[in-house]
Amino acid sequence: MPEMDKEGKKFYVGVRQKSELFYVKGSTELDWGMKNRLARIFNPKDGKTVMLAIDHGYFQGPTSGLERIDISIMPLVLYVDTLMVTRGILRSMIPPSVIKPVVIRASGGPSILKELSDEQIAMDMEDCIRLGVCATAIQVFIGGEFESRSVINMTKLVDAGLRYGIATMAVTAVGRDMKRDAKYFRLAARICAELGANFIKTYYTEEGFETVTSSCPVPVVIAGGKKIPEMDALTMAYCAINEGAAGVDMGRNIFQSDSPLGMIQAIKAIVHDNEKPEQAYKLYESIKNSK
Ligand code: 5RP
Repeated sequence: MPEMDKEGKKFYVGVRQKSELFYVKGSTELDWGMKNRLARIFNPKDGKTVMLAIDHGYFQGPTSGLERIDISIMPLVLYVDTLMVTRGILRSMIPPSVIKPVVIRASGGPSILKELSDEQIAMDMEDCIRLGVCATAIQVFIGGEFESRSVINMTKLVDAGLRYGIATMAVTAVGRDMKRDAKYFRLAARICAELGANFIKTYYTEEGFETVTSSCPVPVVIAGGKKIPEMDALTMAYCAINEGAAGVDMGRNIFQSDSPLGMIQAIKAIVHDNEKPEQAYKLYESIKNSK
């Protein structure tokens, strides 16, 4: 016969049970599993994320800096909150002992040789669950040739994700001839959020970026874009955070830097410690020169 429980007295009658609002913007009404996955992406300490984007190979092959992910990228993983990656690289290069949350590239189709907006959903939700990912990522081509299909594909991923508690990141993809300004990103980010994306990736705009973040009901993270001088990339990250971004999802400005280790730590200092660009640059230089 099981031992009888000794009756406790700690009922705290009259002490109201805590019920906290969830800290990730626009996510209070989501289910526990989805919130838990978002909490792994967006650091509960400050609600922000340093996401390292290394998914570029899904449309442009062995991108400069990503030729050998096992050698060049693995040392950076320690400093990131989240990894954004394809399932092919996850399975072949990332040891399963890495317990950082994963945002998985779930769209694809055309290569850089073709019309990029012609993407499809390229991953089943069942495989996302098998891999234990926290969110899917899909390009949305507002204004692009296949605009409607990319939007509807995003909603399909949102629906599948809601079924299993996996978040969706919409990546606002700007066509080659389109203007990357705040007006465009307000439109694109808001459409993606209205149609269910849990967080949005845009580019930073020097003017009006705060209107992109303030009119978007869910978190916005910024891509880094093509490689620019380190000080400029750090300044861009600093401005984005101070104008309402919930983090960065950066790739080339980290892994194409002359010191990827220096850059990732400098970006982290900006995102999580609100370090000024000048101080972050000093950190980058000291790590670069310590080799
Ligand atoms: C590809 C992507 C990339 O992940 C994104 O562009 C981030 O990388 P970068 O900072 O190099 O722009 O979504 O479309």
